[in-house]
Amino acid sequence: MKMRAAVLEEFGRPLSVQEVDLQEPAAGEVLVRLEACGVCHTDLYTASGADPSGYVPTVLGHEGAGVVESVGDGVSSVRPGDHVVTLFSPQCRECIHCLDPRTNLCLKIREEQGKGHLPDGTTRLSRDGEPIRHFMGTSTFAEYTVMPEIALAGIDPEAPLDRACLFACGLSTGLGAAMYTARVTEGSTCVVFGAGMVGLGAVAGCRLQNAGRIVCVDLSAERLEMAREQGATDLIAGDGNTVERIIEMTDGFGADFTFEATGLVQVMEQAVETARMGWGLCTIAGVAGKGETLEIVPRLLITGRRIAGSSFGGVKGRDQVPGLIDRYMAGEINVDPFISHDLTLDEVNRGFELMKAQDGIRSVIHFN
Ligand SMILES: NC(=O)c1ccc[n+]([C@@H]2O[C@H](COP(=O)([O-])OP(=O)(O)OC[C@H]3O[C@@H](n4cnc5c(N)ncnc54)[C@H](O)[C@@H]3O)[C@@H](O)[C@H]2O)c1
Ligand SMILES: [Zn+2]
Ligand SMILES: [Zn+2]
Repeated sequence: MKMRAAVLEEFGRPLSVQEVDLQEPAAGEVLVRLEACGVCHTDLYTASGADPSGYVPTVLGHEGAGVVESVGDGVSSVRPGDHVVTLFSPQCRECIHCLDPRTNLCLKIREEQGKGHLPDGTTRLSRDGEPIRHFMGTSTFAEYTVMPEIALAGIDPEAPLDRACLFACGLSTGLGAAMYTARVTEGSTCVVFGAGMVGLGAVAGCRLQNAGRIVCVDLSAERLEMAREQGATDLIAGDGNTVERIIEMTDGFGADFTFEATGLVQVMEQAVETARMGWGLCTIAGVAGKGETLEIVPRLLITGRRIAGSSFGGVKGRDQVPGLIDRYMAGEINVDPFISHDLTLDEVNRGFELMKAQDGIRSVIHFN
């Protein structure tokens, strides 16, 4: 079939919205008609050429939500008409990692996904007979996508898809960091560094875990105000004294849980230093630049601090994204404030410009 999609032709150049070909889903695959897709930093990171594993041409986009159109042979967990959220982090429910509660890093299709292929090593996307590679196994800056069944979470059909799409990446990453990676405990003190989509999600996750105190640090007063709406109890404008201020606020010890959601290594260091001696857990969700390293004084670890990394918030997508959406539908998660701009597919590059200008939290592309 023919469809419109935003193609990355060349690194550092705007995406080109054009007609491309999409083949029918093969065995184990699903054709999804996209309704909405958020514009995330990872799309921009790849488009800029900064990602060493990037490739062109490819159709970007990974924060998608839509409706199942048709399914390939052997697909049993979704049916035409089902509403789904796309998962760049799939869940096969069979591999050694899927069977272990300690990780969400499914191994089943990792290698081919990283190369821009569907699991059988080929692509469904093409143009004039030349293959176009898939991006993050999702390629959701497009009217339709073909994805493996194991990379789709079936959700409540009542949930608005232009809100549900944020659960495909940024929001679940933040919520999950608090709920599944750190498993924040009731009454605990938490510090979240960064109040973008991921940090605000982490603030909301700490609140859902019934944390006693939630400190949020950011440079933007406007974003700190949003953190307050999501449940932050204390706001700090980040500066050279952030670490001292947090230690002081926490009786000289630091916080039970700290979260880093900026992608800056110097902030990661602050998140480690402000985790409490004895048992403080620092969870790192931000993605640092290529080649950057994190320096840690070993004494901080000997004295009981721990560090965890969190990809997609540790969320096992097919099992847990539907539950997060249910909590949103029950009024426990306020998603509306995160959506700052509604765009058409033709305006996708504007989504990147808005992100660079830090204008709003999320731009969402609507396909209808
Ligand atoms: N682990 C994952 O699976 C995953 C998924 C999505 C995004 N990410 C990463 O998470 C990070 C955050 O993503 P986002 O979409 O929320 O980004 P964002 O740019 O919207 O938010 C980052 C925030 O950090 C703040 N900040 C900058 N310097 C600071 C400082 N010194 N102290 C405190 N705050 C500071 C900024 O003001 C901004 O509000 C990025 O690195 C992104 O790549 C990771
Ligand atoms: Zn993302
Ligand atoms: Zn798996």
